[in-house]
Amino acid sequence: MNLSPLAPQGRRPQFTSPALPKAMALSTAEINQISEKLSPHTVSSSHSLSLPFTPSHSPIIGLSPMDDITDLPFRQLCKEMGADLLITEFIASEALNRDAEKSFRKMRFTEEQRPIGIQIFGADEDELLRCLDVVEQAQPDFIDINWGCPVRKVAGKGAGSGILQDIPKMLRITASMVKHAHLPVTVKTRLGYSNDSMMITDFCEALQDTGITALSIHGRTKTQMYSGVADWTMIGAVKNNPRMTIPILGNGDITTAAQVVEYKNRYGVDGVLIGRGAIGNPWIFEQCQRALRGEPEREITVQERVDVCRRHLLAAVRFKGERTAIFEMRKHYGAYFKGLYNFKPFRLALVATPSLEETLAVLESISDHYTQ
Ligand SMILES: Cc1cc2nc3c(=O)[nH]c(=O)nc-3n(C[C@H](O)[C@H](O)[C@H](O)COP(=O)(O)O)c2cc1C
Repeated sequence: MNLSPLAPQGRRPQFTSPALPKAMALSTAEINQISEKLSPHTVSSSHSLSLPFTPSHSPIIGLSPMDDITDLPFRQLCKEMGADLLITEFIASEALNRDAEKSFRKMRFTEEQRPIGIQIFGADEDELLRCLDVVEQAQPDFIDINWGCPVRKVAGKGAGSGILQDIPKMLRITASMVKHAHLPVTVKTRLGYSNDSMMITDFCEALQDTGITALSIHGRTKTQMYSGVADWTMIGAVKNNPRMTIPILGNGDITTAAQVVEYKNRYGVDGVLIGRGAIGNPWIFEQCQRALRGEPEREITVQERVDVCRRHLLAAVRFKGERTAIFEMRKHYGAYFKGLYNFKPFRLALVATPSLEETLAVLESISDHYTQ
């Protein structure tokens, strides 16, 4: 099979966004509202990154995009805790083209969150090309194409990892996106569609030839979904292919800083993306930066967990409004307070209360109960 991407044909479709202001980065006043001052324990990465990634600062520690999780308030916390790189939740190209309010909100970010990529998905080349204009008006540092999502409503339509059944199409669309975009384009994908199909080691060079500037690989196939364990050896094989020159970011199952050090040493990846391991645990970025500097792990106190959870909640309320924020924060509480003895009554109270005032009171009682 010829894996060279087809030369992209034609011009970028014209599209004028009627919604420019919604897509812009936030004003300083808005940033200040969302971002309270750093606590003395949080660290910001000292890496100065050029766009989109500078491999010399390897490994870069990035927050992996997660739909309905890595929104602006959560990304802000991760950045403050030391994440070097952020990517938005994935956004449907089709929704951007029809000017869907929710999708525009997903593109918003603060200046502090740079370098940041806006991630888009879709199966239709025209649709993806058309949305480039609106994405670029939001002025991210790069555009990330999602060729990795395995969920049926995405992959079943040929988007996300669904495209791994048609590698030539994936290469053609990616090359076309690179050609028409004015910003760097990156790709996040999986190892392949299934163990029987063509794997990333077979097509990574062709993917690089499309002109993408970095490649993130989740070490599972589409059919694996989230079962089993991520196969980092295959990520390492891509990285150690002497013909690969773009930064390779490995992803899958990282929950500790020690793993990051180990994967860096063993596979030489230029960066890692941490997803589920950061939910309720934005400190993982601080721990990773400490470990890479050879410093010991720092214990995170219950009081810190309460404080950061409260900040997350308040930032979410400012960004989305009280009702939505209270509802959406419910998926974070279990992770923030994981491992606390007899936590269940507190968790039940947190997920049942409809008001901000009551939620704050429950958080206060957690602090009282576990820190006396
Ligand atoms: C709730 C959830 C939502 C996700 N949404 C996205 C997404 O929008 N874009 C994407 O590229 N990957 C998405 N992923 C995949 C993660 O970015 C990551 O590749 C995967 O969870 C494996 O990494 P981890 O083991 O560190 O979580 C999502 C994963 C989860 C659990």
